[in-house]
Amino acid sequence: MSLQDKDRIFTNLYGFQDWGLKAAQARGDWDDTKALLAKGQDSIIDDMKASGLRGRGGAGFPTGMKWSFMPKESKDGRPSFLVINADESEPGSCKDREIMRHDPHKLIEGALVAGFAMRARAAYIYIRGEYIREAEVLQAAIDQAYDAGLIGKNACGSGYDYDVFLHRGAGAYICGEETALIESLEGKKGQPRLKPPFPAGAGLYGCPTTVNNVESIAVVPTILRRGPSWFASFGREKNDGTKLFQISGHVEKPCVVEEEMSIPFRELIERHCGGIRGGWDNLLAVIPGGSSVPLVPAEQIMDAPMDFDGLKEVGSGLGTAAVIVMDKSTDIVRAISRISYFYKHESCGQCTPCREGTGWMWRVMKRLETGDADIDEIDMLHTVTKQVEGHTICALGDAAAWPIQGLIRHFRPELERRIAERGEALQEAAE
Ligand code: NAI
Ligand code: SF4
Repeated sequence: MSLQDKDRIFTNLYGFQDWGLKAAQARGDWDDTKALLAKGQDSIIDDMKASGLRGRGGAGFPTGMKWSFMPKESKDGRPSFLVINADESEPGSCKDREIMRHDPHKLIEGALVAGFAMRARAAYIYIRGEYIREAEVLQAAIDQAYDAGLIGKNACGSGYDYDVFLHRGAGAYICGEETALIESLEGKKGQPRLKPPFPAGAGLYGCPTTVNNVESIAVVPTILRRGPSWFASFGREKNDGTKLFQISGHVEKPCVVEEEMSIPFRELIERHCGGIRGGWDNLLAVIPGGSSVPLVPAEQIMDAPMDFDGLKEVGSGLGTAAVIVMDKSTDIVRAISRISYFYKHESCGQCTPCREGTGWMWRVMKRLETGDADIDEIDMLHTVTKQVEGHTICALGDAAAWPIQGLIRHFRPELERRIAERGEALQEAAE
């Protein structure tokens, strides 16, 4: 099971060709987009449902279904909006960056088609502030699309008026959470809102809004051109399509690659990364979906299908498909402790379990790192993660809890060993 070149959607992922409009058109982008729009809104949404595409930002919500929540008629003359989440900040994730800098027209064409399907007036692309060059390329590509009449008034000659705006974030991880992103776009402090209402009911400026990830939108024109059954022929049921995997850490050759969903972990690494540094026996653990999902020990990940269900079965998740590989040289407690610090730092502080819990968990993790904790604190830490998980406004609380739960589940003996060794060292020093 592995993807052939002819079935790759992102044909300029590595920037071997020009990102500009002419080159993009030569690769098939903007090819009779008017005909795609002529299919009609409901037919496009039906195709997206049939393709099985699930959101590529991490949560995996069915894309076609999400679009179908948008109103068919405007209430009180209020417009609808598409918001594209390009605030890629999950540690390990770097796929949307590659799309924006090397294949920006796929995203802009996708924004038009998706926005049309959900009857949106405009798309706002919210790009991570640190992506300076990517923002420059994307803005230049948007300008090219306006100049060529592909977006703006009478987009692609379809009679549909559609604008695309680029907005740069200012460096807060939490602004990648869809409602915090909306707050930030509105010019407010980026703090998540309670859901429901979901954005389709009350989103940007209180108007119906759909927030989709960059990859989810960029694949839309190809799915519609090649047909939903073509896309659904990859992967397996409920895990359809192709997917960008971002593989970092202790592999011979880290990379971003488009592959078939459900490819087994070992095959993904052998085929695209030249194997594990020091050989397969040297693999310790893998975080398969960005820092928000629990780690999986080597023996459990080897044959796991890299998809939503396959990784759930091994107690983790596909997340953004940011695969962080750790070999036996890794100080696994320190690695998770560092992730804890990240969530403590990025908590917006709005709700107590997250604001207090992330700092508390990080401080205990620091002591576990050096063995300066009491043995009972391992269970106490686990209890606290359970108090945070599911008790916060947004998913950042869960994201802070899960990596620690994974560490305790799979590496408890390592935590106990450190505490015991530290205790012995202190006793020796006292004698
Ligand atoms: P979520 O499951 O709450 O929502 C997913 C999407 O489905 C949202 O757009 C939401 O509005 C929609 N939705 C869910 N239930 C709905 C309903 N009943 N009616 C209407 N719409 C509904 O997940 P969330 O909080 O949006 O995302 C969490 C994920 O984000 C994590 O799994 C993590 O992997 C990922 N993530 C990605 C980052 C990145 O850099 N790409 C950064 C941080 C986290
Ligand atoms: Fe803010 Fe954390 Fe609450 Fe999310 S869970 S709203 S980041 S305090």
